Amino acid sequence: MRRRLIAGNWKMNAPADVPGLVDAVAKASGEHPDLDALICPPALLIPSLAKSGVNIGAQDCHTALSGAHTGDLSAEMLAQAGASHVIVGHSERRAAYGESNLTVRDKATAAHKAGLTAIICVGETAAERAEGRASQIVTEQIRTALTTEATADNTIIAYEPVWAIGSGNAATTAEIAEMHAVIRAEIGASLGDATSKAMRILYGGSMNAANAADILALEDVDGGLVGGASLKIQDFLSIIAA
Ligand code: PGA
Repeated sequence: MRRRLIAGNWKMNAPADVPGLVDAVAKASGEHPDLDALICPPALLIPSLAKSGVNIGAQDCHTALSGAHTGDLSAEMLAQAGASHVIVGHSERRAAYGESNLTVRDKATAAHKAGLTAIICVGETAAERAEGRASQIVTEQIRTALTTEATADNTIIAYEPVWAIGSGNAATTAEIAEMHAVIRAEIGASLGDATSKAMRILYGGSMNAANAADILALEDVDGGLVGGASLKIQDFLSIIAA
């Protein structure tokens, strides 16, 4: 059985009441021992929030362990600060910083070396979907990012169609079911059946209190990577409850 994971990606934001939200998530985690909750705040908040008892993740890491990389943070530093997970390959970073599939692979490898669980984000743009290339794009992203070091324990995939992120228009359950099946098949092709059955695949892209239950009921959906709705206590708690 794959454990559900609901992860909040705060991006470069902080909710109005940070301690209130973190306390509420800690309480909800206690009430739902069958699932994992994770908060990925701006990196500056990791050390203080790691003391809350809630699982804390970073939003990015460098490919290198240390060195002349002004402004960057290594996976090892994030682990020392208290993070257990790190998001790599978020489409906002792929777009804004030109992160390639190979860069994303190297970031996942750096995360694994530091003992972090890598949440590898994949997803097609609206144009790629319109051209009928959604499956091909996502398959390539996964095939490149998954190394032989990747296991169901140290790696989670997040399917986040770029056009659904922050748009208020989540993918339909049919679209999500189809893409998650493609992803699970590619994990199997890369790492074998047992890993494919055990590895968690999250959906992200305008998941909210209203659509979470339907999306999370899909067979190959093992949780959510939630942006906007993770900044509002009630919305995030509703998704955890769903
Ligand atoms: P959203 O963001 O929920 O605001 O669409 C999801 C994400 O980018 O991880």
